[in-house]
Amino acid sequence: MGRNIKFIKFHIIIVLVSLIAACGQTSLPRTEISFNENWQFTLADSTMDASNSSYDDASWRTLDVPHDWSIEGEFSEDHPATAGGGALPGGIGWYRKTFKLDQNKAGKRVFVQFDGVYMNSEVWINGTYLGKRPNGYISFEYDITDFVNFGEKENVIAVKVDNSKQPNSRWYSGSGIYRNTRLVLIEPIHVAQWGTYITTPKVSEASATLAVNTTVINDGDTPQSAEVYSILKDAENKVVAQKMSSIKLAKGSNTIDHELELKSPQLWSMDKPYLYTLFTEIKVNESIVDQYQTTTGIRSFAFDLDKGFVLNGEQVKIKGVCMHHDLGCLGAAINERAIERQLEILKGMGVNGIRTAHNPPAPELLELCDRMGFVVMDESFDIWSLNKSPYDYSLYWDEWHKKDLVEFIKRDRNHPSIIMWSTGNEVLEQWGDKGPAIAKELYDIVKGLDDTRPITIGMNPPVNMSNAGVTTQFEVSYNSISKSEGIDVIGYNYAHQTYPHHKDNFPNKPFIATETTSGLMTRGYYDAESDTLKRWPIRWDIPFDQGNPGNTVSAYDQVSAPWGSTHEETWKIIKKHDELSGMFIWTGFDYLGEPTPYTWPSRSSYFGVIDLAGFPKDVYYMYKSEWTDEDVLYVYPHWNWEEANRDSVDVWVYYNHADEVELSLNGKSLGTKSKEGEELHVMWRVAYEPGTLKAVSRKSGKAILTEVVETTNEGSQIALSTDRSTIDADGKDLSFITVEVQDDLGRVVPVATDLIEFEIKGNGRIVGVDNGDPTSHLSLKGTKMKAMAGKCLVVVQAGKEAGQIELTAHSAHLTSASVVITTK
Ligand code: GAL
Repeated sequence: MGRNIKFIKFHIIIVLVSLIAACGQTSLPRTEISFNENWQFTLADSTMDASNSSYDDASWRTLDVPHDWSIEGEFSEDHPATAGGGALPGGIGWYRKTFKLDQNKAGKRVFVQFDGVYMNSEVWINGTYLGKRPNGYISFEYDITDFVNFGEKENVIAVKVDNSKQPNSRWYSGSGIYRNTRLVLIEPIHVAQWGTYITTPKVSEASATLAVNTTVINDGDTPQSAEVYSILKDAENKVVAQKMSSIKLAKGSNTIDHELELKSPQLWSMDKPYLYTLFTEIKVNESIVDQYQTTTGIRSFAFDLDKGFVLNGEQVKIKGVCMHHDLGCLGAAINERAIERQLEILKGMGVNGIRTAHNPPAPELLELCDRMGFVVMDESFDIWSLNKSPYDYSLYWDEWHKKDLVEFIKRDRNHPSIIMWSTGNEVLEQWGDKGPAIAKELYDIVKGLDDTRPITIGMNPPVNMSNAGVTTQFEVSYNSISKSEGIDVIGYNYAHQTYPHHKDNFPNKPFIATETTSGLMTRGYYDAESDTLKRWPIRWDIPFDQGNPGNTVSAYDQVSAPWGSTHEETWKIIKKHDELSGMFIWTGFDYLGEPTPYTWPSRSSYFGVIDLAGFPKDVYYMYKSEWTDEDVLYVYPHWNWEEANRDSVDVWVYYNHADEVELSLNGKSLGTKSKEGEELHVMWRVAYEPGTLKAVSRKSGKAILTEVVETTNEGSQIALSTDRSTIDADGKDLSFITVEVQDDLGRVVPVATDLIEFEIKGNGRIVGVDNGDPTSHLSLKGTKMKAMAGKCLVVVQAGKEAGQIELTAHSAHLTSASVVITTK
């Protein structure tokens, strides 16, 4: 995995040592060891106590984290999470891990770090209670130095995870130690956790100034003279600037400020996300006692009242998507390659921004955004003190929100990709007197830790919408936070009708559409049976009072949540107005839970531009035609209709870089069309006959692209294709295999729903299957899946030995297929 992933890691020198025994290399002042392997796990009731070291966990299951036990369960409407939470089980889980620490590490400080445990985790080391973290998205560490044994005596860490009180989330959360863990061994004098803070107060093409604030901890018994170095290296590992301070480190916490000057810096941008690395070194008596690594990027940006978002002096529209944290069939269990694949697919559509809806993301997402060139709206909370679900974060707000927010900002504030903080989403306090005060409290906390980024809140529209579309006069005091001192950028969800009037409503604050659209679609599904519009979502109708002209398959991209819009509507507005800095579509990918407006038997969302399996829906290509420089010609729907049921079918075409498109059916031209005015597609209403639909886009008479959609024969064979056929033999890397049902001529059968079973041989395992159908109740962790609209997905994970994996797919009426993946 991660061809270039390996050499850049955030914060700390990653020393890839898989065995604790390898800690014997005394030359390493800081050792960070993955703590992911060989945990014992059980699902238990609330009365069990496995916190004692002597507890016998031999009968428990052995597994590696990241682990999400919910995704391993069966979908059922009886789970208390409800369909809104993904219709999967919660409960209480215990994890225990036994480990040894090399004797020659005695004297080191020892920390255990968790990037995220959902939720209510409690941790014990050798029977001693370390603490509790209710927030399931927060990263935290415990200092276990005083409780661990070095040498032959074993240590036992026990983690209780309580996700039993449900519903506690408006979407699928997952359960367990679902993010990475590590053990950190450092000298008593060391850089604190998230102990560097790098800003770029001056940036131009000629030079840049980096301000580095470093927190150094002296856990020794006496003050100590030391030299603290800040060494900046470019992407070729060449030192480009450095500073050193000699300092007497007091006991406890010390801070050191350095300013580094850099000539002709390489700026970070979406197109060229250039990264530098800051190495912090502490020397005592000529010996290095700590080395700490921080990835950074140099860029300037602003939210301008007239120009919207400006990056390095250039106006750039934020073409963003909101993303929940689940990874489809992998559940919440984080996997770097799975996130990288999501971002690759989004990049292919032209997306340049991510909103981490509505919680602190996995650190790996931010590292990938730094590297791949996405800007990020990093969001902390969906809930403040008022609840949206019976057992949500509101229960913990009073006690925990300050600590959680501080640690979230400290963890994330060095990422060049982050250009905005969000302290909330549609919090219910916005409708009352409490909103402004809490917004300001959070604002001050964030600004105290980072004053280089604006703060927004995803609000419900701060204007009274009742007269939207009738007049440009909106009542702007509608939402109590909108005029508070708790936000720098007005951000609101939906209400696209009001966007053009933003400058009238809020003359002094820039704008970002924190959430838009909420269009409803199922990939490849077009309801042809009805003469009312009830198309996209499978089997459940949205009452939609727009007439449909006869028996026509029609009006794509026209169903959205009532508070949202079609994809085209919002984008047309954002595109037209310079002062609107951009938008975050709800959502990039479908996610587990929140099948709004449906409920069970649906169990995942319909909002994504891309389905849960990672297959683009049709509207992906509208965005691609608008948001990328690539030539696009995309024709839909499929051409496998049954003649008897059909008068006509509307054919939509997205295209760019051309003056016109000509459509023909079975060799007969249906005419040439061009997008007029603001149009984003062209459409033909076609009397259906089976055969070949052909579209040609032309510029100045010259053909640019040709696309063909054909009526296929019945499915007769399976075809498998991998996103990558060689993957790392690291026990983590993934190959995503697209499974197609094809006819005898090798064409995907767009209506095929065959059940396909998978078998695997060699050094890998099947870790997920999916087809993107929000109503499917087949296990996402199983070895069989039905095709939906002719396709499904299998995810194969490499083992740790180099070799080959062979995946075979069988189905009752189809010829089998195999594919080989090499692991090295
Ligand atoms: C928004 C909310 C999102 C999601 C979306 C569905 O109001 O912020 O979390 O629920 O609606 O349309």
